[in-house]
Amino acid sequence: MKVLVATQKPFAAVAVKGIKDILEAAGHEVAVFEKYEAQADLVAAVADADGLIIRSDKVTAEVIAAAPRLKIVVRAGAGFDNVDLEAASERGIVVMNTPGQNSNAVAELAIALMIFMARTQFTPATGSEVQGKRLGVQAYGNVGRLVGQKAKALGMEISALDPFLTDEQIIAGGADPVHSVEDLYACSDYLSIHIPALPATIRSIGYDLISRMPKGATLVNTARKEVIDEEGLMRALEDRPDLKYVTDVMPDNYEDLRGKFGMRVFATPKKMGAQTAEANINAGLAAARQTADFFATGNTRFQVNRK
Ligand code: 3PG
Repeated sequence: MKVLVATQKPFAAVAVKGIKDILEAAGHEVAVFEKYEAQADLVAAVADADGLIIRSDKVTAEVIAAAPRLKIVVRAGAGFDNVDLEAASERGIVVMNTPGQNSNAVAELAIALMIFMARTQFTPATGSEVQGKRLGVQAYGNVGRLVGQKAKALGMEISALDPFLTDEQIIAGGADPVHSVEDLYACSDYLSIHIPALPATIRSIGYDLISRMPKGATLVNTARKEVIDEEGLMRALEDRPDLKYVTDVMPDNYEDLRGKFGMRVFATPKKMGAQTAEANINAGLAAARQTADFFATGNTRFQVNRK
């Protein structure tokens, strides 16, 4: 089989080598297609692929239509909102993710961004400490739980909301359970977002929620830009000169935000939460193993487009 590793934002070289080693040892041909510029380049590259390993690369209906041999897409990472699941399912293509494999890297970045803002973006201005402050974690899954545990080690109090977990599970994960998103925002000096981009969550965080945050609070987004109602964020920051926003997922209106609010907002130039050698190795090699296993045995354990 031919497996295309299509990564506009490449994996670390060591991860690419590991992916190739696993797939070639299983008898597959590997083509690495990195740093491509246009979506049309991806459409052209998938023509003879039986398997596709991606990161945040967009597997649209057009990509799927251009890949007549495609049987499996593995998103090396957690979020699969970049894959048109309906188009894949219609063709019987299996889509998988690699849950948990890059979580630690994202969690470390969430903590780093929080401290970066507490310390006035590393300018000489007087900052504040995170110890003793309350961190709200919106969704206590693989990443959220790690953020909570690391923040606890920094002396923070942790609150978490997760509709899929019981209070006991949240408490076992080191956090105080909160039962409404309004209450979570209202109690959080720092609020770290870890929800996926779904129809129900897209633009769900806006003026009302952000305005509930306590004086001097900071909203930290290492999840997806789509979950923020950017116009609502803008209004909340206008009304409340004490609030801050830091993100690893560049807002569409970042220039406006930065122009209006200066150092109260910060976005990394490119999404870098999962961009560590360790996360690339963990997620990339898991994707290669899952692909090889699927071709060898039909294993679909991590399939996300199951009917
Ligand atoms: C994920 O969903 O796993 C993260 O957002 C990482 O995305 P990336 O592989 O594009 O860095």
